[in-house]
Amino acid sequence: MLKRVLIVGSGGREHALAWACARDRDDVEVIVAPGNGGTARIAENVVLSATDAASVARLARARDVDLVIIGPDAAAAAGVGDACLAAGVTVFGPTAAAARIESSKSYAKALMDESGIATARWVTGGSEDRVALERFIADVGGACVVKADGLALGKGAVVCASAEEAHTALDACLLGARYGDAGDRVVVEERLQGLEVSVLGLSDGRSVRVLPPARDHKRAFDGDRGPNTGGMGAVAPPPDIDHGFAEHVARTVLQPCIDALRARGTAFVGCLYAGLMLTPEGTRVLEFNARFGDPEAQVMLPLLAEPALDLFTMAARGELEAGRVAVQERSAVGVVAAAAGYPGDVRTGDEIVGLERLDPDVLCFHAGTRSGAGGEFYTAGGRVLCVVALGQGLDDARRCAYDNIGRVSFTGMHFRSDIGATGAPSRSDPLGVTA
Ligand code: AMP
Ligand code: GLY
Repeated sequence: MLKRVLIVGSGGREHALAWACARDRDDVEVIVAPGNGGTARIAENVVLSATDAASVARLARARDVDLVIIGPDAAAAAGVGDACLAAGVTVFGPTAAAARIESSKSYAKALMDESGIATARWVTGGSEDRVALERFIADVGGACVVKADGLALGKGAVVCASAEEAHTALDACLLGARYGDAGDRVVVEERLQGLEVSVLGLSDGRSVRVLPPARDHKRAFDGDRGPNTGGMGAVAPPPDIDHGFAEHVARTVLQPCIDALRARGTAFVGCLYAGLMLTPEGTRVLEFNARFGDPEAQVMLPLLAEPALDLFTMAARGELEAGRVAVQERSAVGVVAAAAGYPGDVRTGDEIVGLERLDPDVLCFHAGTRSGAGGEFYTAGGRVLCVVALGQGLDDARRCAYDNIGRVSFTGMHFRSDIGATGAPSRSDPLGVTA
């Protein structure tokens, strides 16, 4: 029987989700709202805002959709999941209340403390708590991270090396309009050192099925320099991490978080993402996200050895079995091509050429693209596309990804040349300001 899936969002993650759901199946019809140039090729795009919960629910009902998959954090926080559930539609993605694990950092930190999930020491407050915030900053010798409490497009954390830097970051957050309402309150936490890794699991509100671990490269330029971005590329699995580690994180981090959310009456259905730092004192959680990572999804989903849509459907129906998702014993490397100016103001409207020259087994997930009348594509956003290659090992995958991305071009295109390179993992930079 034909299955109809509605994917909410417009990034590379959503293109990868659409691809994974339809992969090797002719009994699946995919709608993406609003989608991008790439999803238009493999699915039907419907123009609406991903955060317009009522319209998404109406569309799902009108098109008799079997499953809605929520891509971005903003859609979950805007209540897309709640509106679809209220309309009687099956949803893979959290309610707004469950998504608070991402949309409020102070909520997440308190839940971690209460559930025994290891995380950095922290304090929270608004302008009226300035004295207490500054006292904490003094206690940790100025080495801290100042975070807007609310959603800030992944750009709300400032890593500080001194009290002076931290006070400036507090000003920017609490006094400036930089993050809007998201910055009315801040979380200040002790700055940790170590390699970062992401472990994600699917959940039906009760059980966790863990995905292959991944590592994102957040900084704009080679050698982890420059401003933070949404992510310039990713690898799965990282060379220093195996699936056994991911299962350990599922037991000690993801499952306790899922249990705590259920105990609060806000069961979490969807993909729970733990951003971790491997410190000399042990693994610490930096953040939870209530969704797939972008570009982590682009490297994880192609590695799956069981149908993604079946997993999402089982999770949405409360029928997921705990354990690990079956994956191929291969490595994936994804390199993001960004537009001139990214992560600041970007140039758009340039034609993307060379896509037809990619190897047939190499994947290209679109993000900021739109299709033209003649089947050509134009840039339409900061992160434009992500070229993903699989290989027997990381080096194979990396060579193939770079060989292929070199065949694609558009005016102002830039990408990192060290995604997945040994010795260039994503490390917290003691001196860097990640804003
Ligand atoms: P977040 O907004 O919580 O995802 O943090 C964004 C980035 O800031 C992380 O990926 C880390 O690179 C860095 N970061 C966050 N928290 C800490 C911390 N406690 N210590 C060091 N770096 C951090
Ligand atoms: N790539 C980081 C994120 O999706 O949050």
